[in-house]
Amino acid sequence: MSDKIQAVRGMNDIPPSEIPYWRFIEDTARRVLDAYGFREIRMPIVEKTDLFRRSIGEVTDIVEKEMYTFPDRRGDSLTLRPEATASMVRAGVQHNLFDRVRRLWCTGPMFRYERPQKGRYRQFHQLDVEVFGVPGAEVDAELILILSRLWRELGMQNLALEINSLGSKETQARYRQTLVDFFQDYREQLDEDSTRRLTTNPLRILDSKNPEMRQLIESAPKLIEQLDAESLEHFEMLKQILSNSAVPFTVNPRLVRGLDYYTRTVFEWVTTELGSQGAVCGGGRYDGLIEEIGGKATPATGFALGMERLVELLKLHEVQPPTAVSHVYLIALGEAARTRVHALAERLRDGIPDLRLTVDAGSDSAKKKMRNADRSEAPLALIVGDDEIANETVSVKHLRETSDQQNLSIEKLINLLKHQLAAGAW
Ligand code: HAM
Repeated sequence: MSDKIQAVRGMNDIPPSEIPYWRFIEDTARRVLDAYGFREIRMPIVEKTDLFRRSIGEVTDIVEKEMYTFPDRRGDSLTLRPEATASMVRAGVQHNLFDRVRRLWCTGPMFRYERPQKGRYRQFHQLDVEVFGVPGAEVDAELILILSRLWRELGMQNLALEINSLGSKETQARYRQTLVDFFQDYREQLDEDSTRRLTTNPLRILDSKNPEMRQLIESAPKLIEQLDAESLEHFEMLKQILSNSAVPFTVNPRLVRGLDYYTRTVFEWVTTELGSQGAVCGGGRYDGLIEEIGGKATPATGFALGMERLVELLKLHEVQPPTAVSHVYLIALGEAARTRVHALAERLRDGIPDLRLTVDAGSDSAKKKMRNADRSEAPLALIVGDDEIANETVSVKHLRETSDQQNLSIEKLINLLKHQLAAGAW
């Protein structure tokens, strides 16, 4: 036998047993986003490499070491998208969308060449939500309210909201110099990563996970204390709306995020329940990006949540998502039944549109078919053999409770199934 081919490291299959969690999140998110006036958009997974270089930033971890970049057959440099914001901005500018549609969302796979571990993968999935053309803090707050509602509807309680303001691009430039001056004085205390960042991206030093750097970072000047007046006003309004809406939050002055496009508001929802990969959702405002990649100046704000991490949390909290297993497993026994049972199945589907029905009309033995029915997890088996064909009836067997097999007319069967579905019994 030849060697089995395995999936690429860090890229996972999502088996049928996990799909109910994914659908539960996607269906709930879709309903919530519809309710807040958002429209869905779908973009390609591959974009020109320059798009990400220019938007995410040359000296970020993502662009420096994590992108799946390759030349296509003509030699053009393409990249598997590491996030959705840049692509959505590109699509909006290209199709002149933002005058008409300001609230957009999408979902799908993203790719980053990170070291795989629990909660961190090379192919992962995001639900990404963006608002274009609205400069005020009220819309930053509304995004956070959407997320609070989503967590409630999913039965999630333990997520903590951290917020910060990164100010305008000018404030960031000034603060960068303040930070460089400060850390220069403590050069010998910086680890290798931070020494490198001192010249490339000093803000990211604040993000260091190295416990030995903690104390030094705590004592560094904080951007939030040097905010420009407009950004400060923006941040105060955000906090006011969150307080008025009873959304708890903490201000984390070290929250800088891993992408360069942010201005003013940034936020993350974090949990301690997932180990080191505790950020379930991240986002913020990026008022300069659209102009930077060739569109007309348009303020924008958004977030992305990590589907894998959210699925893991739902499982930890033993949330039971709705499943899509069949309600009914229909078995044909004997030659006559094998050619007639599909007509019966179609009649049932016509009469009960919500019915989930699996037909087993193959050549397996009766015993094997009953075993298949059991494994299908369906609550009910319907058995049709020669007698049932002759009498125009169906034998009904409850698979998950002990009760006698019944013989019912088709009319009575349809009533029974409708009743069970309406009662929410399955
Ligand atoms: P991000 O913080 O890079 O932001 O990613 C958002 C979320 O995606 C994270 O909080 C995490 O849950 C999930 N995530 C990121 N990397 C991985 C990975 N390797 N494995 C599993 N999950 C992961 C962005 O991507 C921004 N585009 C968010 C945004 C939208 N900002 C404004 N609009």
